[in-house]
Amino acid sequence: MAIARYEFLGLPVVISSPAMNDVLARIRRFAQMNATVLIEGESGTGKEVAARALHHLSMRSAKPWVDISCAVLPEHLVESELFGYEKGAFSGAEARKPGFFELAEGGTLFLDEIGDLDFKLQVKLLRVLDCGEFFRLGGTRKVKVDVRLLVATNQNLQESVAEGRFRKDLYHRLAQLRIAIPPLRERREDILPIANLFRESFGIAAGFSPQVEKALLEYNWPGNVRELKNFVLGCGATVIGDRILPRDLPPELGVGGGDAVFPVSDLARLSEVTGESGRLLETAERDLILRVMRQIDGHHRKAARRLGISVRTLSRKLKAYGLESESGEICPQTVGD
Ligand SMILES: Nc1ncnc2c1ncn2[C@@H]1O[C@H](COP(=O)(O)OP(=O)(O)OP(=O)(O)O)[C@@H](O)[C@H]1O
Ligand SMILES: [Mg+2]
Repeated sequence: MAIARYEFLGLPVVISSPAMNDVLARIRRFAQMNATVLIEGESGTGKEVAARALHHLSMRSAKPWVDISCAVLPEHLVESELFGYEKGAFSGAEARKPGFFELAEGGTLFLDEIGDLDFKLQVKLLRVLDCGEFFRLGGTRKVKVDVRLLVATNQNLQESVAEGRFRKDLYHRLAQLRIAIPPLRERREDILPIANLFRESFGIAAGFSPQVEKALLEYNWPGNVRELKNFVLGCGATVIGDRILPRDLPPELGVGGGDAVFPVSDLARLSEVTGESGRLLETAERDLILRVMRQIDGHHRKAARRLGISVRTLSRKLKAYGLESESGEICPQTVGD
């Protein structure tokens, strides 16, 4: 299968699998349209890459690309970031500030983690989508914009609709066009080409040994491309010589890979190494939290969701296990033209 390299908004991307070639064909088609696109896929599959490609390949590519995650900011900040505010709208609002909708004029606005958008803001967003107009916070004059909206989620939005957490009307409005990014384990042809791209971009001259390539191909990559990236980054730190060898692999890849998040064989070995046989459960919990945090770049809310615990419990456990340095604060990003 041919390996194709692209660059979307400065981001190097490799595509080899038939599944991702289909996705790219869809992106090329959708890029020429103006409708909202809902991008779905597990964490770390490349949803943001797809959104950037949609903008890059569209007629709007010379206009601004603006992105914001609905998960990282509290509700009132999401509102003022999106819609801007007038001077005096609230204490501290010393001058008028345009929101992301205005900053994206003529271009594309990408709302990541749309499933986390507060119910009240869902109503406001629906209104903007229907008429292309809104009020800045504290404003009395309507602002009109020409912005294409792209949204992404790793949640099952239809389930959220059924459970009453997401508005049905907004869902249908957002899902005019849909793109599903398959998990890495369902497109294994992409694993080695992407791993080699990361190796190059991190300046790791050593290549993967055949045994390591086999382990990479067999592992299920629950954290998808992001986990692969973190893995390659880790290799750069541990490799000695001109080959990445099985000894450089983390335990989940070293011991047969497979489905288990925490293989029992690992657990026994870990207890031998650490001598913590009386605290097996604790050791396992610490390791599991650490892995999940690394798979998703230390994003608290996502890690808590994957672990099935609350954000508060996660924070408490991170503190208890001395893992606070694993937390990565992810900030919204704006790229103007
Ligand atoms: N096909 C690819 N080629 C090269 N790099 C890729 C590819 N797909 C994803 N990546 C890289 O993998 C990382 C994760 O991708 P991205 O941020 O788009 O995932 P995501 O689905 O938005 O994740 P999350 O749900 O955690 O927000 C990024 O660094 C991205 O550049
Ligand atoms: Mg993302």
